[in-house]
Amino acid sequence: MKIVKGGFRVWRSRLGFILAAVGSAVGLGNIWRFPYMVYENGGGAFLLPYFFAVLTAGIPMLVLEMGLGHKMRGSAPLAFRKIKEKYETLGWWAVLVTAVVTVYYSVIVAWAVNYMVFAVKQSWGADPNAFFFKDYLGATGFWDFGTIKTNVLLGLAVVWGITYVILYNGIKEGIEKASKIFMPLLIVLLGVMVVRGVTLPGAIEGLNHFLEPDFSVLKDYNVWVSAYGQVFFTLSLGFGIMIAYSSYLPKKSDVVNNAFITAFANCGFSFLSGFAVFGILGYMAQAQGVPINEVASGGIGLAFIVFPKAINLLPGMNSFFGILFFMSLVVAGLSSIISLVEAFTSSIMDKFKMTRKKAVSVVSLGGFLCTIVFATGLGISILDLVDHFLNNYGLAVVGLAECIILGYLWKLTTVKEHVNSVSDFKVGNWWDISIKYVTSIVLGYMLIMKVKTELTVAYGGYPTSALMTLGWGLVIALLVLAYVMKNISWNEDVLLDVNSAKEEI
Ligand code: PHE
Repeated sequence: MKIVKGGFRVWRSRLGFILAAVGSAVGLGNIWRFPYMVYENGGGAFLLPYFFAVLTAGIPMLVLEMGLGHKMRGSAPLAFRKIKEKYETLGWWAVLVTAVVTVYYSVIVAWAVNYMVFAVKQSWGADPNAFFFKDYLGATGFWDFGTIKTNVLLGLAVVWGITYVILYNGIKEGIEKASKIFMPLLIVLLGVMVVRGVTLPGAIEGLNHFLEPDFSVLKDYNVWVSAYGQVFFTLSLGFGIMIAYSSYLPKKSDVVNNAFITAFANCGFSFLSGFAVFGILGYMAQAQGVPINEVASGGIGLAFIVFPKAINLLPGMNSFFGILFFMSLVVAGLSSIISLVEAFTSSIMDKFKMTRKKAVSVVSLGGFLCTIVFATGLGISILDLVDHFLNNYGLAVVGLAECIILGYLWKLTTVKEHVNSVSDFKVGNWWDISIKYVTSIVLGYMLIMKVKTELTVAYGGYPTSALMTLGWGLVIALLVLAYVMKNISWNEDVLLDVNSAKEEI
């Protein structure tokens, strides 16, 4: 058997691939991270660095990852192995980071599943803050694990169960079909939220705060760095996801166009969310007679504390809009989880020549078991800590390494020639410049600044024992594990394919 990924593992249609890629890109980052980031970083003025980052790093990196996956027809470890044996470690590092991200990302989606149910009766009561931390999570401090919360565990079982069923059914019947349901559903959900949001009294005030431009922020390079960070995260770059997804594209696929469509569709979702979120926040501020800055927030606080409060305050159909909001988090989150798990699963399949059904079963069960620790009272602190380290370092290191390996150590033109040979719209020198200079420099700078801050301030005030184990310890452990994985020998057949691909280059 020479062809590792061939006719039997491809998308049914181009639309299917695009919806799956958009499904990966559109996630919690669009709903709870983007709107607040715009608000905090100069409102409408932030869109300038944001689009600049999309054009100079987001789309070029998407083209790079999609082009690499398409050319090499393999998951990240296999794709990098085909370039050079030692680079396989990078591929593993990317998918191992992905695996850990999946574990905690699934916890947040599990919370959203629970909150969808709580929304029916607004069981969070008048004080959603106390409800979330005390009653629901039973949050504790390091190293007291507290008790396992059954609700969270049930939510996790639902999330992993759905993921398992979808991935078990493969690319066409599983991921593609699910994306064709999830993405249109998400547009409808967000559409309803936007209409509700912007028609509430006080919404205009909220939207003004969201978008009112403050151009003075453009002088601050941190704003530009934030824009690049958001673009990387929101386009699911540096996780090996787009590499795996593109490996299932048929030979003749317009890679460049696909990258543009994915990026712009993702931006569209972010804007929609911004209107929904800030419309509702504007209303909330007015209803409580407080300034916007007292209600504006992002992340977990926005979704599980501020929004429940806002849902309590709505003039009518509170349960309906509550369910809708949490359902949009679930749908957006699930489609991202599917892509995360697929990136890891396909690597296992490639390396060990394992069948999909077996790999999916092992990975899903393992993933679910690992998430149990997040159902304890320490769950939210572990999540916060691991997210901080992996998101900041995992992502930036992989992105930077990709730029360096492909831009400097290997011939970038090989990927360029490949994508141009299959695409209508061809990338020019701007693409090389983006990868070799713009993205490399921004990521390198980001990384240095982050490490510097890390060494001066202990993140989140967590004890050193936690930072050393779940933070730095984990980052290093994953690197070592990546190296170990690289040294496990490949199945003969797959290797044959590696060599033949090498000759092709
Ligand atoms: N792009 C997703 C979001 O914006 C997050 C994500 C990152 C999903 C990496 C998968 C992989 O929420």
